[in-house]
Amino acid sequence: QTSAVYNQCAGCHQSNGMGVPGVFPPLVGHVPQILEAKGGRDYIIQLLLYGVQGEITYKGQKYNGVMPAFGQLKDDQIAEVLNHIATQWGNDKLLPAGFKPFTAEEVKALRDKKLTAAQVYELRKTLNLK
Ligand code: HEM
Repeated sequence: QTSAVYNQCAGCHQSNGMGVPGVFPPLVGHVPQILEAKGGRDYIIQLLLYGVQGEITYKGQKYNGVMPAFGQLKDDQIAEVLNHIATQWGNDKLLPAGFKPFTAEEVKALRDKKLTAAQVYELRKTLNLK
């Protein structure tokens, strides 16, 4: 399956979703982990709208780059790319029970928060990701 919007992510996270160790985190396995956490669904939408900056660790690798904001995309495009990364590369088999596809409406509802990438990082801490 392809996604025109995902082409804008693949330069960093790679077309196979594996990222680059220590530089760009993988999305394989990682997106379901975020979605399983309490608050993870709202977090990942805001990550796309506003970006994130701060040190993160995933599977023993540290990342300390900048995830750029993609707020210039339309609500339905953000929903589409989130559904793409939630279901590609076997991620569909790891999703929490009852996962429902992202909708443009829930993206729109988080736009008025207008967070900075540093505030998104503070929000991320509340997920207690391992
Ligand atoms: C982190 C998705 C585009 C660089 C992440 C994370 C996700 C993600 C789900 C994990 C966040 C976390 O663990 O909390 C996407 C999607 C993109 C995209 C869907 C396209 C719409 C990009 C691009 C770049 C990039 C183009 C490079 C210019 C990064 C970096 C991180 C990250 C460096 C780690 C941030 C940090 O160290 O704080 N991205 N990404 N991403 N992304 Fe992206």
